[in-house]
Amino acid sequence: MALDLEDARRRYHFSFTREDHDRLPFYSALMIALERDVVAQEMLASIRVEQRNPMLVLASIHLAALRGHPVLAPIYLDVRHGLIGDPDKAANEVIGVVNTEPELVRSELHRSTQTNEPVRSAVFQSVIALIALIAQRGHSSINLVDVGTSAGINLHFDQFPVREKDDGNPLTLICRDETPIDRSLPLPEVLSRVGIDPSPLDLSVDEDRLWLQACLWPEEPRRMDRLDAIVKQCPSWPETTVLRGTVAERLGDAIALGDPSRLTVVLNSYVAAYFSEEDQMAYFEDMVERCARGNVAWISLESPFMVSWPTASRSNEGAKSGATQILVTLPGEAPRDWGWCHHHGLWTRLAVPSC
Ligand SMILES: C[S@@+](CC[C@H](N)C(=O)[O-])C[C@H]1O[C@@H](n2cnc3c(N)ncnc32)[C@H](O)[C@@H]1O
Repeated sequence: MALDLEDARRRYHFSFTREDHDRLPFYSALMIALERDVVAQEMLASIRVEQRNPMLVLASIHLAALRGHPVLAPIYLDVRHGLIGDPDKAANEVIGVVNTEPELVRSELHRSTQTNEPVRSAVFQSVIALIALIAQRGHSSINLVDVGTSAGINLHFDQFPVREKDDGNPLTLICRDETPIDRSLPLPEVLSRVGIDPSPLDLSVDEDRLWLQACLWPEEPRRMDRLDAIVKQCPSWPETTVLRGTVAERLGDAIALGDPSRLTVVLNSYVAAYFSEEDQMAYFEDMVERCARGNVAWISLESPFMVSWPTASRSNEGAKSGATQILVTLPGEAPRDWGWCHHHGLWTRLAVPSC
């Protein structure tokens, strides 16, 4: 079948928000150059549909740089250290490599985008503290299940300090609260931490760590430094269990590992887009049903444009600016919109409906 290059071009065109383009001069120039380049369009168009995401192409190029490619490595090092004077020139040099050595990139496109973004934990902290307050009525322990857990970093959502400004600690999650959020609310004790992923990454395995780094954006050295700090710190964090498999295969097993007398909180963030259409709807219906029946709460952070759920709120200003919908389902209730956050957790705008 002929490759749909126009579809690929559009995917490049729409993958960054205005905010991303303003913040990331090199990645912005590279995204524009990829959009215009036929080889890059062919690469994206040839990826299996559930991973046909420009981020996979960016990560595959970044991986080659991290592995020491003679042209890419110095460019990406300069980008990481803020030393790129002319982003368009650097982007064109990268496109040159994509055209002369396409196999370098193509050979990595079998992978999945597995960015594991810890700053989403800043959002999870605020929402889980409120759920504990509203749904737990004084009980302060939960079971946690993270669907599409990647390296399992957000299973440790409660291990990170959250601040509005950088305090120099690489583990600090910097998240701007655009609505008042009481961050002094206690977080519940987490009794069990279970992740699900068809190809989980292990922070103690070199190749897995390299792929996690490649999925980050080199112009965000704070994220790269945070990952390094997490790798050092995580051996001292509570134990987790990761179940290999898809959500369709393992959700029941994951929930069954928790203490049934306690509330189970199921999370997903930037995962549902990678499910088959069938799995996406089945997951939604399954979670709605589990929460309606009782001791389960569900927090979903997804772009409304990436899910076909009836709750996807696409006409909201937040959605139009590329933000992530915070969908919360309390035990015994239907899913409700709890506001918006930046796709990497850089800001949160909580609007908790009155219960
Ligand atoms: C973009 S990453 C997001 C990781 C993490 N949730 C976060 O917010 O940082 C998507 C993850 O979903 C996983 N995934 C893809 N299809 C899945 C499925 N059907 N069931 C469970 N996880 C899946 C991928 O392997 C990948 O690790």
